[in-house]
Amino acid sequence: MDLAILGTGRVGGALGPRWAAKGHRVVYGVRDSSSAEVQGVLQKSGAGAAATGIREAAAAAPVILLAIPWNATREVLAALGPLEGKILLDCVNPIKADFSGLALGEAPSAAEQIAAWAPGASVVKAFNTVSDATMVNPTYGSQPATMFYCGDDAAAKATVRQLTVDVEMEPVDAGPLHNARYLEAMSMLYIHLAIFGGWGGECAFKMMKR
Ligand SMILES: NC(=O)c1ccc[n+]([C@@H]2O[C@H](COP(=O)([O-])OP(=O)(O)OC[C@H]3O[C@@H](n4cnc5c(N)ncnc54)[C@H](OP(=O)(O)O)[C@@H]3O)[C@@H](O)[C@H]2O)c1
Repeated sequence: MDLAILGTGRVGGALGPRWAAKGHRVVYGVRDSSSAEVQGVLQKSGAGAAATGIREAAAAAPVILLAIPWNATREVLAALGPLEGKILLDCVNPIKADFSGLALGEAPSAAEQIAAWAPGASVVKAFNTVSDATMVNPTYGSQPATMFYCGDDAAAKATVRQLTVDVEMEPVDAGPLHNARYLEAMSMLYIHLAIFGGWGGECAFKMMKR
């Protein structure tokens, strides 16, 4: 299949060569085809790959991967030709430049609201991203389900961590209470998958490391 990849950074430079190795014809849409980055990615993408202008690349393929920063996305889309019938593969995450949060769609969490309603208490968000079935039995094959928790009080978090270990889940410290907004969003994803996606409640998120 012909694939247009807009951007040759970390994502474009990771997926492009891998798809090329699977036999897809990759055309990169770039600002400067002579740059060392573009040339390096091209070298890894096989003889059939090419780099051209962004508009030309998008016109040349039915599937277009947007591998560009969120703050460039509107400008890049406006520079493309007609997109009717194209598949736009969107991996863009609207992250603030200092990685402090989402640049779009961020909302306060129930956990932070609970902390405001309970002055003096140490709120720890936990046990919200797994099903009750997983709470009863957290083991999948030989692996424990991951339990994310977050909060601002280290001692309270340590207590919750131990309570997580006590029910045989794998505790993962997800940072300050601010991050409860992401855990609550994860719970919505889980609920969608369980109820509408056919996964049911006998499934769980798992962090992996190497
Ligand atoms: N890195 C990850 O692990 C990861 C994982 C999932 C999703 N994402 C998302 O994937 C997207 C790309 O991330 P990345 O890590 O690959 O970024 P990156 O390494 O900074 O690469 C960005 C690419 O976009 C190009 N670009 C920037 N501004 C442009 C503009 N105005 N017009 C045309 N091209 C432009 C850059 O080209 P120049 O060389 O010309 O500047 C570069 O090739 C982001 O939205 C990110 O949130 C990243």
